Amino acid sequence: MFKTIDDLESGQRLLVRIDINAPVEDGVPQDNRRFARHAETLRELLADDHAVALLAHQGRPGRDTFVSLEGHADILADHLDRDVDFVADTYGEDALAAIDDLEGGELLVLENARMCDDELPEEEPEVKADTEFVETLAPEFDAYVNDAYSAAHRSHASLVGFPLVMDAYAGRVMETEYTANSSIQEREFDGTVTMALGGTKAEDLIPVIEQVDDTVDRFCLGGIVGELFLRADGHDVGYDVEGTDFFDEQWDEQQETIERILSEYADSLHLASDLAYDDDGERAEVDVEGLEKDTSYLDVGSDTAEKYADLARESEAVFVKGALGVFEDERFAHGTVSVLEAISETDCFSVVGGGDTSRAIEMYGLDEDDFGHVSIAGGAYVRALTGESLVAIEVLERTD
Ligand code: 3PG
Repeated sequence: MFKTIDDLESGQRLLVRIDINAPVEDGVPQDNRRFARHAETLRELLADDHAVALLAHQGRPGRDTFVSLEGHADILADHLDRDVDFVADTYGEDALAAIDDLEGGELLVLENARMCDDELPEEEPEVKADTEFVETLAPEFDAYVNDAYSAAHRSHASLVGFPLVMDAYAGRVMETEYTANSSIQEREFDGTVTMALGGTKAEDLIPVIEQVDDTVDRFCLGGIVGELFLRADGHDVGYDVEGTDFFDEQWDEQQETIERILSEYADSLHLASDLAYDDDGERAEVDVEGLEKDTSYLDVGSDTAEKYADLARESEAVFVKGALGVFEDERFAHGTVSVLEAISETDCFSVVGGGDTSRAIEMYGLDEDDFGHVSIAGGAYVRALTGESLVAIEVLERTD
């Protein structure tokens, strides 16, 4: 196990890693559950007179979600109802000057860690500990706190480098998510286990089907992952169209794996039978036989939503990973919300994971208490489900 913030003395200078990776609309980050959860840890740290500098990331280089953390600092300020400073630098002169000015009970957000060369790519923790990033920032602080459970599967400098060179602790989110997600592995299910698998990160999601096939009996596919499987199944969908630039690249990288999984897991994979799209501002639906390559599909159709909801209702356990459509737009929330409602109406064991997906629970007035566990983690929760250890937690444990 790791040390937690309960083990910290008051009034320390702390470097705190959180995960506020959020949806971005027109360049502007949108609030999600991660902010509220981390705000709880931060409130506690500030009340204990710690001076806190925050490290976090947003998006991936090259994607349009790869933006500054300035807007994130404003969202945190709203949650904490106090001023939150931001510096557009992570470990250069400006960052060091702002850190120097930081006093007990104050909070400073450093710029997106992925804007620094040393943060990416994934490398051994020892390599990351030996970077200018870690060597420059570590001496400025008394201790490092990792609260970013949802990024703990990434071997990036801000997550695995610091615990090797300084005193390191787990924050509240790290502690509670770790405990809840680890306990899932110990459960045994007699009845059917269903996983609704959607969202945008196909390269992370597709391997999940093989990794959890001992536990999960059937998969209901939607989102970008679902479209890529429909494409492998011979339908005209899952191509880049106006406003998207991620299908073709993911298809080129994953085609072989998708085609193999589609044939090996034919009995347990459920693909959409209809999809929804925007027709002059209105939601319209089309059977998969009538899909057109140049249309952007934004949700599973009503027949599919109903079928997936039925499959969820008759399951002993349901895991949700990723949204089945663009639920942030009410017109395309039907698939995601139907499955969530079905879960909330039954007493099946359930886990809803993903920083964005868990937001649908709040947006559509569902009661979090009707779900077994609502995790703000996406990729990390899936790895916990498969029993794979999380590298940033491994290093945190090493320092105990
Ligand atoms: C997440 O949103 O799941 C984490 O922040 C990790 O983000 P990544 O998949 O871009 O590494």
